[in-house]
Amino acid sequence: MPATIVLGAQWGDEGKGRAIDYFAEHADFVVRYQGGNNAGHTIVVGEQRIALSLIPSGIHYSGCVPVIASGTVVDPKVLIEEMDMLFRRGFDPTRVRLSSNAHLIMPYHRKLDAVIERFLGKNQIGTTKKGIGPAYTDKFSRFGIRVQDLFDPKIFAEKVETALEEKNKLLARLYNTLPMDAGGIVDEYLGYAERLRPHVTDTSLLVNEAISRGDTVLFEGAQGTLLDVDHGTYPFVTSSNPTSGGALVGSGVGPKSIDEVVGVAKAYISRVGTGPFPTELHDETGERLIELGGEYGTVTGRRRRCGWLDLVALRYAVRVNGLTRLFLTKLDILSSFETLKVANAYVADGERHHEMPPQQSILYHCEPEYEELPGWGDDITGVRDFDDLPKEARRYVEHIQDVAGVAVGWVSVGPERSQLIEVS
Ligand code: GDP
Ligand code: IMO
Ligand code: MG
Repeated sequence: MPATIVLGAQWGDEGKGRAIDYFAEHADFVVRYQGGNNAGHTIVVGEQRIALSLIPSGIHYSGCVPVIASGTVVDPKVLIEEMDMLFRRGFDPTRVRLSSNAHLIMPYHRKLDAVIERFLGKNQIGTTKKGIGPAYTDKFSRFGIRVQDLFDPKIFAEKVETALEEKNKLLARLYNTLPMDAGGIVDEYLGYAERLRPHVTDTSLLVNEAISRGDTVLFEGAQGTLLDVDHGTYPFVTSSNPTSGGALVGSGVGPKSIDEVVGVAKAYISRVGTGPFPTELHDETGERLIELGGEYGTVTGRRRRCGWLDLVALRYAVRVNGLTRLFLTKLDILSSFETLKVANAYVADGERHHEMPPQQSILYHCEPEYEELPGWGDDITGVRDFDDLPKEARRYVEHIQDVAGVAVGWVSVGPERSQLIEVS
C-alpha cells in the first residue's frame, strides 16, 4: 500500500486514529491534509491511551514522519502543547513536519466561532468552537495568515492589524462583544515562531519526493465524508474537505500517486453536533449504543448521537471517495444485541431512495428502510481470524460489503492495537 488515503466514511469518530495506527507500523510518512484541532483521534496501545488532535497518528512509530500539510488550519499553541504532551509520554515530536502554507487559527477565529454559534441560536451547527470555520473563511476570502508569516514579524503584525480592523468591528457591532488587541496577539504568536521553525517546511515537496522514492505514505483524514463542506450534510458540516479529493488538494499531490482509498466506518453510526441523521435512535437502543460504545466526544466531551448503520450513506461515501476497501470498527459493541438493523434505503413521500436524496430536507422526514439481521451474542474481542467470527457476525459484515458495494478489508473488534481481523 505505497500511497493510501485513510478517511472517515461517516460523520467522524469512526476510529480513524485506530486504523491509521495499524497502517502506520509500515509507513514512512503520515500526512494530515485538512481540518485542525476539531479532530480527536484516539489510539490505544496496551494500557496507554493517547488522544491526538493535530499530529498524525504515526507519531508512535519511530520510523514514521508525521506531516501536517497545507490544507490544515493550525492553532500553534495547541500544536506546541501536543508536541510537549507526546514528549512527556516518551514519543519524539522533533520529527513533526509542518507546512509553511498551512493557515493559522488566530484567537479571533476562536472567539468568532463561539459568538457566531450563539448568534445562530437554535440553528447552530454545534461546532467544536476551536475556530475552524472562521479560519477557513479567512483563508478563502484571502484574509488568512499562514505559518510562513510567523517568520516575517513586520508582515505578520501588519496582517494581524488588518484582520483586526475588520474582526473588531464584527465583534463589537454585530456580535456585541469586546474587541481584541493586536499587540497582544502579535507578541503571543511571534513567541511560537522560534519553537515551530525547525518543523516548518515545504511538505508537498517532502511528500512527493517520498512517493517518488517508493516510500509508504498514508494520508490521514479528519472528520468524515458526511461532514465534508461540499459532499456532506451542509450546513451541518465542517469547513474543509475530508473526502479523498481533499487529500490531494490539502497535501499537494496528484491523483495518480494514490494507490488505495480506505474508508473507516463504524459498525453502527454516530454524529456530534446538529444536523439531519435518518437512522438516529432516540430510545433505549440508542442509549445502549452510546454507553457500550463509550460514545462521548474526544474533543468536547459531548455525547455522540447514535443510530443503526446507514448503508445509503455508506454507499454514498464509497462513491464520492472512490473507496477501494472498508475498515470496519467497533463490531464488538454490537455483540450483546439480539437483532441488528441496517438501513438499506430511505422512504419519503412514497418514494424509495436507494441513493442519497438530492434534496436535503428529505433526510429529516424520511423513514429508513431497515433490514433486520440476527445478532451473535458471543464476545468477539479475542477473535483474530474472520472465519472464527460467529456466522451471524460474518453475515453482518458480508451484508455491508454487498449493499455498500466495496470489500471490507479489516474488522476491528476492540480499541487496542492488536484487536483486529485482517479480512482481505
Ligand atoms: P476518530 O476520530 O475517527 O479517530 O475516532 P475517535 O478516536 O474519536 O473515536 C473512536 C473511539 O472508538 C476511540 O475511543 C477508539 O479507541 C475506539 N475504538 C476504535 N475501534 C474500536 C473497536 O473496534 N472496538 C471498540 N470497542 N472501540 C474502538
Ligand atoms: P474526528 O476527526 C466528529 C463536527 C462538529 C460539528 C461540525 C462542525 O475526531 O472524526 P467544526 O468545529 O469542525 O466547525 O464543527 O463538525 N466535527 C466532528 N464530529 N468528529 C470530528 O473529528 C469532528 N470535527 C468536527 O461536532 O457538528
Ligand atoms: Mg474523533
